[in-house]
Amino acid sequence: MTFRSPGQVGGVITANASNVEHMLKSNFENYPKGERSFRMLVDFLGHGIFNSDGEEWKCQRKQASYEFSKRSLRNFMVDTVQSEIAHRLLPLLRRAGEKGETMDLQSVLERFAFDSICKVVFDEDPACLAEDTVGDATSSNFMRAFEEAQNLIVGRFMDAFEITWRVKKLLDIGSERRLRELLAVVHGYAMQIIRGRKEKAPELNEHHDLLSRFASNKNKSEEFLRDIVTNYLVAGRESTSSALTWFFWILSTRPDAAVTESMRLYPPVPMDTQSCLEDDTMPDGTFVGKGWFVTYSAYAMGRLEDIWGRDCNEYKPERWLENGVFNPGVPCRPKDVSGEGDGVCTDEVHRSLRGGKVRDRRGGEGEDTGARAVPHPEDERRPAN
Ligand code: HEM
Repeated sequence: MTFRSPGQVGGVITANASNVEHMLKSNFENYPKGERSFRMLVDFLGHGIFNSDGEEWKCQRKQASYEFSKRSLRNFMVDTVQSEIAHRLLPLLRRAGEKGETMDLQSVLERFAFDSICKVVFDEDPACLAEDTVGDATSSNFMRAFEEAQNLIVGRFMDAFEITWRVKKLLDIGSERRLRELLAVVHGYAMQIIRGRKEKAPELNEHHDLLSRFASNKNKSEEFLRDIVTNYLVAGRESTSSALTWFFWILSTRPDAAVTESMRLYPPVPMDTQSCLEDDTMPDGTFVGKGWFVTYSAYAMGRLEDIWGRDCNEYKPERWLENGVFNPGVPCRPKDVSGEGDGVCTDEVHRSLRGGKVRDRRGGEGEDTGARAVPHPEDERRPAN
């Protein structure tokens, strides 16, 4: 789609894959971020990776890919995220569950992402997800200021004429005045951390965060390091929380299908064994002698192409949906795969994957956990559900 109007910058919006490859790869040099975008963002992002082109961008990109490929940084990220999940996110959700409270999951995940990204970028814990008593006011001010400043900067792109925000900035009025105040909080906080680090210079090597890695280059100015902080927070904060929020939203619309599909691929009881009382012949002609054991593998069954089709190894909750509604007995063997299938999975297959009452190893009945794992004789008498 092309936009052109007199006195305005022209523009194109495309969703064509070849066009995207052209601008991001084959003719990349011809598509920088550009002067207009630079002018809008420089107050917030300075000359960081998100707001630079040419050599300035290339150096930062190179260093970023070098740092991100290091195991120590990856381990630090994993440890940080795991700790935030185990010590804050899960207890918070558990407490809310126990009290029967409704939570704004998007806000929870935004705070989760902000804490995690701050730790990864400059090893500071704003504790936005912790109980009120843990986080200090400066850190939560920083998060609020960062969020609002980002929104106001995006607002500059929405102005029909660039002159509008420029005049407001010049006169220090309206949204531009607010933005100036917010940026003072954001940049002030970042600078405070950078200067604090410099004072304790010998300890820098003990940090595994991104800031220390960039700071170890002595030629870098304080402003450059400040730009590292703001740019990486912008990169990681909303992207992470938005991805997680949508993931849980989609999961919540089809929870049964998502859980069943995950149990198909990773059945909680992957193998189970029975013993044979009398000589027998299985439906496929296999002879089983008296006293023999017979083991079946729910894991293998969950991945058989004959049963599930060519996409048997793919995670596809929608295979359990019929007209958008969860149906544990949905056809799972599309006729078009082999041409021979009846289009319907046997109830046994479904039951064995979803499980029933969980039986203990001696064949005794365990507690009905609701987490159905292996078939139970009683299932044979139940109508298929
Ligand atoms: C689900 C989470 C995320 C998604 C979907 C995502 C997606 C993207 C996309 C589409 C780009 C633009 C493509 C490019 O310039 O190469 C980008 C750039 C970038 N991302 Fe992410 N990102 C996520 C998380 C993160 C995190 C956690 C960090 C680091 C803390 C990060 C750091 C960056 C950086 C530094 C760039 C700029 C690259 C450049 O301009 O050369 N991202 N991201």
